[in-house]
Amino acid sequence: MNEVLEVIKNRRSIRSYKPDPIPKDVINSIIEAGNQAPSRGRMEEGSVQFQPWRFVVVEDPEFKLKLIQTTVPFWKQMIEGMKESQPEMYEDTMMNYESMDEPKDVIYYGAPVIVFVIGPTDYAVSCALACENIMIAATSLGLGSCYVGFGALVTGNTNVMEALEIKEGERIYGPIVLGYPENDSSTMYGIQQNRKEPKIKWI
Ligand SMILES: Cc1cc2nc3c(=O)[nH]c(=O)nc-3n(C[C@H](O)[C@H](O)[C@H](O)COP(=O)(O)O)c2cc1C
Repeated sequence: MNEVLEVIKNRRSIRSYKPDPIPKDVINSIIEAGNQAPSRGRMEEGSVQFQPWRFVVVEDPEFKLKLIQTTVPFWKQMIEGMKESQPEMYEDTMMNYESMDEPKDVIYYGAPVIVFVIGPTDYAVSCALACENIMIAATSLGLGSCYVGFGALVTGNTNVMEALEIKEGERIYGPIVLGYPENDSSTMYGIQQNRKEPKIKWI
């Protein structure tokens, strides 16, 4: 199989990371891959502009802590919602949470880098394509990644929004966590993701 197909096939959401930092040039190469994604044009100051996204790379442990503290209450609400409908999964998840060291990072999985992809609210397809390029590039460089939709729940926190410089009409895509995988952890709440056969209709 060619290398690109192999990398695409090998990408899995990783949820356990070594604390080792990622060299800056590696992060820049990954972001450059994101920037190579196709995008829908938009009129800006009289001309058509592409690449509607920008990237905020978070490495600072204090800022990460703030992100975790802002987001975990939302996560807890979601888990509480499982109590009645999926009691076993709820128990397992809570047991895992209680056994975690502080900060109980159930959102970003202790990853050393969090990349916020920020773009206009109506550019979801373009920004999602940039996100996928980032994750494929990360896999190709031996890094794990995960698209953490939950991480976008920081939207209600003014301090965080100011730090990310999110303006009216913009939103967070991702964020995507990056880091060296701790182990082959690609499960979510104990569910192993097996690929279904693709549904294809030929015409
Ligand atoms: C829009 C979106 C939101 C996601 N949010 C989360 C999340 O908050 N936390 C998480 O651990 N994984 C999240 N994921 C990752 C999915 O759970 C994962 O892609 C899926 O289980 C398939 O597994 P794979 O990526 O290993 O193939 C998200 C993925 C997408 C596309």
